[in-house]
Amino acid sequence: MKSLLLVLCHTVIVLLLLVMDVSGQNNTLLVHHCDPGTEAFVCSVASFVYNTGKQQHSKLIHTGDNRNVRLGFPDSKIPYVLRSRGDPTIPTYDAKLHEELNRPPAVIVEVIAPEPADSGSQYALRYLDLSRNSLSDMEKLHVLVNLETLILAYNFLETLENTVFRGMHNLTTLILSGNGFEELDLAIFPPSLVWLWVDGCYIRTLSLEGAHLPALEKLAAIDNNLHSLNVTMLQTVAPNLEEIFLSENVFNKKTIDALHVALDQAGIAHDGFETYGDLLRIHYPELHNDMSDIQEHLESWDAIISIMAVVLNLLCIFGWVGYRVWQTKRQRGQFNVA
Ligand SMILES: *[C@@H]1O[C@H](CO)[C@@H](O)[C@H](O)[C@H]1NC(C)=O
Ligand SMILES: *[C@@H]1O[C@H](CO)[C@@H](O)[C@H](O)[C@H]1NC(C)=O
Ligand SMILES: *[C@@H]1O[C@H](CO)[C@@H](O)[C@H](O)[C@H]1NC(C)=O
Repeated sequence: MKSLLLVLCHTVIVLLLLVMDVSGQNNTLLVHHCDPGTEAFVCSVASFVYNTGKQQHSKLIHTGDNRNVRLGFPDSKIPYVLRSRGDPTIPTYDAKLHEELNRPPAVIVEVIAPEPADSGSQYALRYLDLSRNSLSDMEKLHVLVNLETLILAYNFLETLENTVFRGMHNLTTLILSGNGFEELDLAIFPPSLVWLWVDGCYIRTLSLEGAHLPALEKLAAIDNNLHSLNVTMLQTVAPNLEEIFLSENVFNKKTIDALHVALDQAGIAHDGFETYGDLLRIHYPELHNDMSDIQEHLESWDAIISIMAVVLNLLCIFGWVGYRVWQTKRQRGQFNVA
């Protein structure tokens, strides 16, 4: 009886929550103003709803002189109902949305996974930050030909379509950090590129064949799986390269020594990258010395935790069996009394 009541109670609470959730969705403010003070630099709006498939849309009232817009920021200000609904707040970035944001020259979209839609329009967009969304495909970005800065850090890009950047004649800064492509062909980038960030991307092969990057000054390829690099060819491809960052790759000692010499000769500054073992020794000297000690400790801890887990499991089983036996006995006792 008691448990039936509990179940009923729970059902009612869950239903109430569902009703509240649905009404919450309907009550979502559809007219947004920039977060106080942000209109001067970049109009920041956390809970913007845009989904062409649904009726509910947000409208932006922008009063500042600066028309740049940042959507979905800060994360903590996005209403819980919008975050937990499952579907992204903004599934596409298209001409209509651009219009509803008052045609901003710069847009930053965070944590709402938009897929740019090719609507054939000429976007005047010069700055686009799509960091930390869930993009696995960027083919549709090719329409944004006026971009000067494109930030796609921490998405799920595994391939870079070789036509995407072709029309972006004004692109100078490209940040692709924290994606997952194993091959990088520098020939796909436009000659206007000055800064290229491809750190933490699991890159194994960096292809220079056919690339032409006369404006490139900085190249960051830290934390990848590179084991070789042809500096002579790099210099041909990017004659104005000033600085390169190559730490945390898998070059062996011999390659590193050769690279240091070649880069110094080419007048390209670098981050003094070392082999991984050397890096550990430099940053954690005690750790390196005590590595075997730590391993032993870990192994003994492993054993202790395993034993404790087994004992806990046994205790639970015994406890449960004991409880059932006691319950049965008590019930029998009650029947006997009755
Ligand atoms: C939201 O409420 C309005 C009236 O306030 C109603 O017309 C509309 O149909 C509701 N929308 C949904 C999705 O329930
Ligand atoms: C690039 O910049 C130039 C000069 O700032 C401008 O005229 C041009 O329209 C821009 N866009 C493209 C795609 O070249
Ligand atoms: C580097 O590339 C050049 C061609 O640009 C080639 O002649 C040379 O042999 C290459 N070096 C290595 C070590 O592969």
